[in-house]
Amino acid sequence: MAVSIKTAEELERMRVAGRMTAEVLEMIEPHVQVGVTTGELDRICHEYITGTLQAVPAPLNYHGFPKSICTSVNDVVCHGIPSDSKKLKNGDIINIDVTIIKDGYHGDSSIMVQVGEAPSHARRLIEVTQECLYRALELVRPGATLGDIGHTIQAHAEKNYYSVVREYCGHGIGKVFHEDPQVLHYGRKGSGMVLEPGMTFTIEPMINAGRRHTRLNKKDGWTVTTRDGRLSAQWEHTLGVTEDGCEVFTRRSNEPALA
Ligand code: MF3
Ligand code: CO
Ligand code: CO
Repeated sequence: MAVSIKTAEELERMRVAGRMTAEVLEMIEPHVQVGVTTGELDRICHEYITGTLQAVPAPLNYHGFPKSICTSVNDVVCHGIPSDSKKLKNGDIINIDVTIIKDGYHGDSSIMVQVGEAPSHARRLIEVTQECLYRALELVRPGATLGDIGHTIQAHAEKNYYSVVREYCGHGIGKVFHEDPQVLHYGRKGSGMVLEPGMTFTIEPMINAGRRHTRLNKKDGWTVTTRDGRLSAQWEHTLGVTEDGCEVFTRRSNEPALA
């Protein structure tokens, strides 16, 4: 499949959807407290997205996904299903992944939050994973390649003795939630597709404290965990390639310029 180049009108809608996605994450972060359930976090986000924002939570019913956001705690790599029986406890780390559809276009972004106070090794994993994302964002511009993105993420993770999950990747995004290209979080400098203005995609590195291998929960069909049971972290942004760099549609107000 060919990669779509968005028009100025489409980019404006991506900007709006991205800003709203960031707002949901900013809204929900202070609700992450010891004792709250991931089911409660899902309900709060659902209300905000459908009520305040008059938007659609993209995960709900997506290939049968049962909830409006993904909540991935500790050794859960991604696609954790919010549940009323999953109470957060002091020292947990959680990824909250929000995707909304506004005016036909998607915004997709995720953050890591520590519950109460997490151990320093967990906080370090969170920080290095965010650095992986930021390093990738810094080199997005016309002429760079997808391999450049994968390479910088892999190099930074492995330099810190972490591993990169390979079974899941970033993706093109627009009118469609997951479209071409696939954005791998590992790779070789200079390899892969050359970036052009108007491309829109996510970068969403999943970095493991231990080995890279994952396991899919066959009972629920969604929850992905690390095989070795060690921690995993992920951060995600949706961006557009501009004439001279990139525009991060899902940038939150507590983040630097990023490009
Ligand atoms: N938000 C995820 C991503 O970053 C996809 C979640 S699909 C779901 O691509 F069905 F699990 F919600
Ligand atoms: Co995504
Ligand atoms: Co996402």
